[in-house]
Parts: sequence; C-alpha cells; structure tokens
Amino acid sequence: MASSIMEKFQSMEYGPAPEDASGVMQWLDAHGRWFGHYIDGAFTKSSAAKFESKNPATGELLASIAQGEAADVDRAVKAARAALPAWQALTGHQRARYLYAFARQVQKHARKLAVLETLDNGKSIRETRDIDIPLVARHFYYHAGWAQLLGDVTDNGYTGDTDLKGYAPVGVVGQIIPWNFPLLMFAWKVAPALATGNTVVIKPAEFTPLTAMLFAEIADEIGLPKGVLNVVNGDGATGAAIVGHPDVDKIAFTGSTEVGRIIRKATANTTKKLSLELGGKSPFIVFDDADLDSAVEGLVDGIWFNQGQVCCAGSRLLVQESVAERLYDKIRARMETLRIGSPLDKAIDIGAIVDQVQHDRITKLVAMGVAEGATCWQPEIAVPTKGLFFKPTLLTNVHPSSTVAQEEIFGPVLAAMTFRTPAEAVELANNTAYGLAACVWSENVNVALDVAAQMKAGVVWVNATNVFDAAVGFGGYRESGYGREGGVEGLYEYLEPAWVKSEPKMFASIDEKQVLRSAQDDNSGVDDHIEGALGIDRTVKNYINGKQARPDSGYSYAVHDRNGKVVGEAPVGSRKDIRNAVEAARAASAKWGKTTAHGRAQILYYLAENLLPRRGEIVAHLADFVGPEQAAVEFDATIERIFSYAAWTDKYEGTVHNPPFRMVSVAMKEAIGTVGILAPDDAPLLGLMSLILPAIAMGNAVIAVPSERCATLMSDLYQALDTSDVPAGVVNLVAGKASELGKTLAEHDDVDAVWCFRDETASSMVKLGSIGNLKQTWTNEGRVIDWFDPARGEGRWFLRHATQVKNIWVPYGE
Ligand code: NAI
Repeated sequence: MASSIMEKFQSMEYGPAPEDASGVMQWLDAHGRWFGHYIDGAFTKSSAAKFESKNPATGELLASIAQGEAADVDRAVKAARAALPAWQALTGHQRARYLYAFARQVQKHARKLAVLETLDNGKSIRETRDIDIPLVARHFYYHAGWAQLLGDVTDNGYTGDTDLKGYAPVGVVGQIIPWNFPLLMFAWKVAPALATGNTVVIKPAEFTPLTAMLFAEIADEIGLPKGVLNVVNGDGATGAAIVGHPDVDKIAFTGSTEVGRIIRKATANTTKKLSLELGGKSPFIVFDDADLDSAVEGLVDGIWFNQGQVCCAGSRLLVQESVAERLYDKIRARMETLRIGSPLDKAIDIGAIVDQVQHDRITKLVAMGVAEGATCWQPEIAVPTKGLFFKPTLLTNVHPSSTVAQEEIFGPVLAAMTFRTPAEAVELANNTAYGLAACVWSENVNVALDVAAQMKAGVVWVNATNVFDAAVGFGGYRESGYGREGGVEGLYEYLEPAWVKSEPKMFASIDEKQVLRSAQDDNSGVDDHIEGALGIDRTVKNYINGKQARPDSGYSYAVHDRNGKVVGEAPVGSRKDIRNAVEAARAASAKWGKTTAHGRAQILYYLAENLLPRRGEIVAHLADFVGPEQAAVEFDATIERIFSYAAWTDKYEGTVHNPPFRMVSVAMKEAIGTVGILAPDDAPLLGLMSLILPAIAMGNAVIAVPSERCATLMSDLYQALDTSDVPAGVVNLVAGKASELGKTLAEHDDVDAVWCFRDETASSMVKLGSIGNLKQTWTNEGRVIDWFDPARGEGRWFLRHATQVKNIWVPYGE
C-alpha cells in the first residue's frame, strides 16, 4: 500500500511554481545594478574597479560590484575603530535593542532576502525561504538575548550575571565569509560580534555580495550607529587587506582550508585573535539497524542540500556491508525523484552551482574518482540545458584513500564506502584530516551515542543531518579549523578577559645563547662528567613516557641561580626528544582522555599529596631562582593550584542546548589531545604547573618545555609524577632551547595544540609553525601573567583552552 502511494507520488507530473522575483529586480534596478561598499554608515562607490555578480542558473548579470581596495578597507577599519567607544558605552540593553531590530527587519524583508539570495547564489528558494533566512533572524534574536544578559561593558568587562562577567570585547573585528550561505554566514559572524560590543568590517564572498548590501540597508533603516557595521566588497585581495590591516583586533574566517592557512600565516606575527571555520569531508555512517528510509531522506539533506556546497555536507557515506546494496538501491531510487532546475521554482530540490569555477572543479574531481576506480551513477532526470547544473551523483566502490574520499568536492557528489564493525566505522570516519561534522544512523541508542562520542568532529548528528541553531555551537576539530559559531561557546571568539587587554607588562626575552653557553658533550656520561667538573649535585634528565631519559643530543648545559652560581645541569633537548615525547603523549592521550573525571581528580590530589612531603627540598631549589620568600609562597600556591584543578576536573562540564525543535544538543567539553607547552620562568614552578594542570585535568597529554633559565626544577616533579599514578606519557618534560623545541612542537603534525607563555617572538614562532595541521595555538602574546593571582592564573580561561566543544544532536519523540 505504502509503496503504491509512493509510486503514485513519484510518477506525478508537476508544473513549475516560480517565485516572483520582480520586487528584487526593481530593487536591483533602483540601484542601477551597481553596488559599492557600506562604510561609516554611508553607501559608497568610490572604487574604480568592478566585478560582476551573475545569476548562476541563467547566466544573467545581476549587478556590478566595486572591488574594494586597501584604501576602502582602511576607511572601514578607521570607521569601526572610531565607532567602538560609543558602541561600548551603550548599555547591554541598548545593544540588545539593535540586534532585536535586525531580527525583526529580517523577518519583515524575509521574502525579498530569500529571492535575492536564490538569484545570486543559485540555491533553491525552498532552502533560502525555509532555512537560511529564518535562521538569520533566529541568530539575531538569540544574540540580542546575549547582549542583554552580558550587560554593560566597563573597564572590568561585562557586568551582567553570566559566566562571562569580567570578559571584554576584543575591539575591531575583520570578518571574511564564503558564498555557500551568504547571508547566514553574515549573520553567524555579525550577530555575536555586535552583541558582545565589537565593531565590524566584513567582506562578503565575491560570487554572492548582494544580500549583504540589502542587509546594510537594514542597518540604515534601524539607525545602527555609523561605523559599527562596515561592509567592504571585493575578492581575495580585499580579504587579504582586512587580514593585514594593523588596526584589526580579530579575524573570523569561513572558507577553504587553503585560505585558512594563508590567514594563519599572515596573522602569525601579530596579536590578532583568529577563528577559522574551514572545510570538511564529513562521514555519514549508516548501521545495519538504521531506519534506512529515514537515512535516505537524511542523505538528501546531507549531500544534495545546497547542491552539496556545504562545509559539513555528509559527503562520505559509510554503510554497514550487510545493508549496503539495499541502501544503494534506495538511494538510487530516491535520486531518480530529485528535481533539478530553476532555483526560483518552489518545487525543485537541487538548484545551480554557484560559478563555472566550482562546476569545473566538481567535474574534474568526479572524473578523478572514476579514474581511481569508483563507479559513477547519475539518475536519468531532466536537467536544464542552460545554467550551471550538476546532476546528483553517487560514487560507489570508493577506496578510503582515494581523492574523492579525502578531498572536499563541494558539490552534489556522494562517495560511498562500506564497513563491517562499529570499530571499523569509527576508524574510517576519523580517517581524514578534517573534523567538522558527522552523522550516525542507528536505531540502537547505545551504538549511536558510543560512535558519536568517538567522532573527531565538532558536530555530530544522531539520526539527523544538517540541523543548525543559533544556540548550538558549530565548528571543527583538526584541519576544519578552530573556534565555534553559535551558542555560548561561540561568544568566546569575540572576547578576552578584561585584564588581559589592559596588562601592559611584557615577558622578558631570554637570550638562549647566553643561557645555554656551557652546553657540554656528555657522551662520556653526563652525570659523572659534569658533577665531577663543576662540583654540583643536580644533573637532570628529560622525562619522557614516565621515564627519565638522556637527551638525544648528548649535550647538557649548566643552570645558574639568580646570582650566577651554577646549581645544576639540564639536558639540551633536541627535535628527536620532542618527537619521542609526542609519540608517548599521543599513545597516552587516548586512554587518559577516557579516564573518568573523578579518576583524574583523584590522581591530581595524589600528586599534591606526594609533593607536599618534599616541600623543604623543593623550596630550596626554587629559592635559587626566585629567592626564599617567593619560593615558599610559590610552592604553597602550586599545591593550592593542584587542588583547584583536581576540583575543576569533574566540574567543568558540558551543557545541554535547547534548539527550538524536537532535538537536544549535548555540548560536550572534550580534551584536545596532545598539547605542547612553553612555560614561563617568572614563577618557574607555579607557571609551569598552571599550564600543565588544566591540560591534564581535562584529559590531554602534554609535552612541556620549562624555561631554560631554571630547567633543573623539572626534576622536582618526577618522583611525585611517578608515585601519583599519573600514567606514563601523560606528562612529558623536555628541556633545551625553547625556540628550537617550540618550533618542533608547533610544526609537529601529531601535536593538537601549542600553548606559549613566553615573549612575543616565541608567540609568533608558534603561530607560524602551526600552519601545517592548523593546530590550535594559545599564547600570552608576550604579556606577563600574574600566576599568583587565581583570578588570572587559573580557572575557566585555562580550562576553555584545554577543551573543544563537540555538539551531539539527539532527536526525541517520533
Ligand atoms: P575561498 O576560501 O577562496 O573563499 C572564501 C572567502 O575568502 C571569500 O570571501 C574570498 O574572497 C576570501 N579570500 C580568498 N583569498 C583570501 C585571502 N588570501 N585572504 C583573505 N581572504 C581571502 O574559497 P573559494 O575559492 O570560494 O572555494 C574554493 C573551495 O573552498 C571550494 O571548492 C570548497 O571546497 C572550499 N570552501 C569551503 C567553504 C566552507 O564553508 N568550508 C566555503 C567556501 C569554499
């Protein structure tokens, strides 16, 4: 019965149901089909060069657009800077009113915005009308709420009654967005930035600039103070000018991983905060007990939604072998019913590809997939002869390592592979450099949630796909970038603790050559050689995988106290030592991350307990570097810090978000994995431990490099680490030149994050080194941290950097 109804539906003829675009055409005509920028509250067309924005479904020219030059970007940044004080002087409520006004106006102009978006991008009107634009409005409503709750901005940060009290806006924010969700990405960027009290310079993608111009008119309509929001049009060169502008405090980027790398490099030498939302190759996992018909509908939304031009598209189908053929049959049958055609037609599923460049790229990648052995199947459905259309495509027999399984195609192309067991599914799913999203389809809640937890991805949908909401953070793991958009987790991208921004003191640079001047060859045995020669009693080794290890270089150097007297020998660690330490940390991190929070807390308490009996000895060692007074206080503060993080371990928990539909999203705070640490020396023990502790408390394994000026101190930790059940490899310590060891850590592809709390040069070096695997970096930007002040030296700021948020969406009800 059911199938005969389906057949009837499928064979039904349908007539075109075009949306009326005349209003939008009038709007374009009223502007002479020519747009410039929106800078300092005025529409300007100063730029001489122009580019064209075309309707990809018809090839029709929609408008010419000004190509923003460095001078335009400069004017926009100056306007944003000038607007900042007055914008921040508003009450939280006043800012909330503006965001609320945006939401209302977006709803009022919803139809016009949807039609314009469809014309400019080629995506179906069904999607712009029912998904993109409603989500834009929702984003402004949600963030109007945050503006209200964060309250006013004072020198001490927000005054509102939230966890963000004491944080402050970063300042002028530069934002660069892609063409696949033009207005939605605009909203994802602008709403949180304005809600938190920043001012904005944003560049829409060159293929799709038009809805941003209509939005700028809305800004005018609601009387947004001039300079708070500036829109500069242009291509990558304009984007690069924003990135390179010295007076921009933060860059938020969504786009290709390739450009993400360029931006990381371009900002490495600056203190600009950076968030990157990059590409993906997201797995769509179907278990044999899944509701296959629902999974097929999920795939329609997963890979054919927006023509597959979606960063989190479920582009890799992983299906359990026993149901693979059955699922492929169902997919093929469903693909035969997909309607491809004019995006303005309310009854079509698949619209046009945004540009010829993208069309060519998809064509090339599919051909490459076939050449590499995949079987290509496309349905016999009618495709318009004019315009940039690409048939929905299924590739089977795809090898997991082939190009189409690894590279982002960004088109309506599904690459299918099979697996046998849940463990194999997890391995295949995570076998990618990306980590944006994943879908898990199973009627068995245990299997679904277990697999969801193991996904290395920022968003996981259980029995669903491509659902988004302003209350739920979105963003990647690994090469899919860092930072979140949406939810409370997304706000942090636009904030800093207020004291960080006002701290003027800079960390004193270390002259490594001077410190390591007495590096000696210890081939003959470092201990005897040095002890004999210098008459000292402390010869320290590195600590790797729970064991003391001689440096691979065979060199050591004399460590001097603050009066210049030699107090011991420390190893000159090399790249090889770092590599060994990273290997140990990687091996330990998986198990440590799965140890219960309670278990980790117990181990931390135990560590404090094992350090306490050695107070006298450790304080004496510490006194060599900081004097007896600070040494005693520092030791006691270190013990207190261990207690704090033992306490935090099972209290820095995730949240449950409540999006406005029948799903909850569990925002888990997960360990990042392996964290490299370059520690300061102004509080040699407390500073080092203040960085190691939050990382391991949250389940990471660390490779820490103590300051070379007092590296002998690291040996005071070995015994306590050994006897406290801290598993081997969770804490690794390597001494030597921070510039060399830090660079190796930053460039190592198996290190997931690097924290650098040294001088400015070290901060830049770490950021530059991170480009390879786009690891997260966190630095003090060369500023001094008062480690003795718990408000600065411990707590949420540290814990947040030690974790990444994964949102697992779970449906409920029938
Ligand atoms: P793209 O990364 O070049 O463009 C995204 C934005 O960055 C645009 O506004 C562009 O003008 C700007 N841009 C380009 N070069 C820049 C630079 N050096 N500095 C600053 N801004 C710069 O992406 P494109 O070329 O449009 O698409 C290429 C591929 O990238 C796609 O096939 C797809 O695989 C991927 N992509 C992924 C997106 C995602 O959301 N993950 C979005 C867009 C593209």
